[in-house]
Amino acid sequence: MTPDIAIKHATARDLESLRQLYLDAFPDEDLYPLVTDLLGGAAPVLSLVAASGGKPVGHVVFTHCSVEPGSVTVALLGPLCVTPGRQKGGIGSALVHAGLDHLKATMAQVMVLGDPNYYGRFGFRPDHLVEPPCPIPGEWKDAWQSVRSDDDTAPVSGRLVVPGAWNNPALWSD
Ligand SMILES: CC(C)(COP(=O)(O)OP(=O)(O)OC[C@H]1O[C@@H](n2cnc3c(N)ncnc32)[C@H](O)[C@@H]1OP(=O)(O)O)[C@@H](O)C(=O)NCCC(=O)NCCS
Repeated sequence: MTPDIAIKHATARDLESLRQLYLDAFPDEDLYPLVTDLLGGAAPVLSLVAASGGKPVGHVVFTHCSVEPGSVTVALLGPLCVTPGRQKGGIGSALVHAGLDHLKATMAQVMVLGDPNYYGRFGFRPDHLVEPPCPIPGEWKDAWQSVRSDDDTAPVSGRLVVPGAWNNPALWSD
């Protein structure tokens, strides 16, 4: 990652500055309303922005969720995006690594629905023990992944319970 990038926490106050980033990074999908709900909602999130010259060039959200029964605290990674002109420069990886480092003391594991070719590099592996909150198409089954904070602990199993913004079947199947 180039040295002009600084990674900081982002809150609802930063939402306006993130709008263009989301429009540019997801030209075919509007994830900005999800980000608005997550950053403005009651459920705790870890939201990290990568900025260059004060301008956001990357962003990631980790939402605190639970796996039931047992109320095991886990995080759900997403969305993650980097502005098109800065992709493949290590910014996405830096955001994911920063988030995983931050969460490893408090979260049993982090879940993600995404490309295994990308998330595998951070240790994510297909997860068949945690049931997602909405149905996932069969051909995406290996895209539902997790990485444990501590390999010595037992894998988490159960049903993922997410805050309202994530309870939208379209986010899990489109
Ligand atoms: C996916 C994304 C966040 C990756 O961030 P990035 O800063 O470009 O990625 P990095 O520089 O950290 O990593 C680059 C590596 O990841 C690979 N990569 C990037 N996007 C990928 C994808 N969707 N699937 C598989 N591999 C991908 C690159 O080929 C590159 O591989 P290499 O290291 O072997 O050359 C970014 O490309 C992006 O915002 N894409 C559009 C939005 C999106 O699809 N978000 C993810 C789903 S929420």
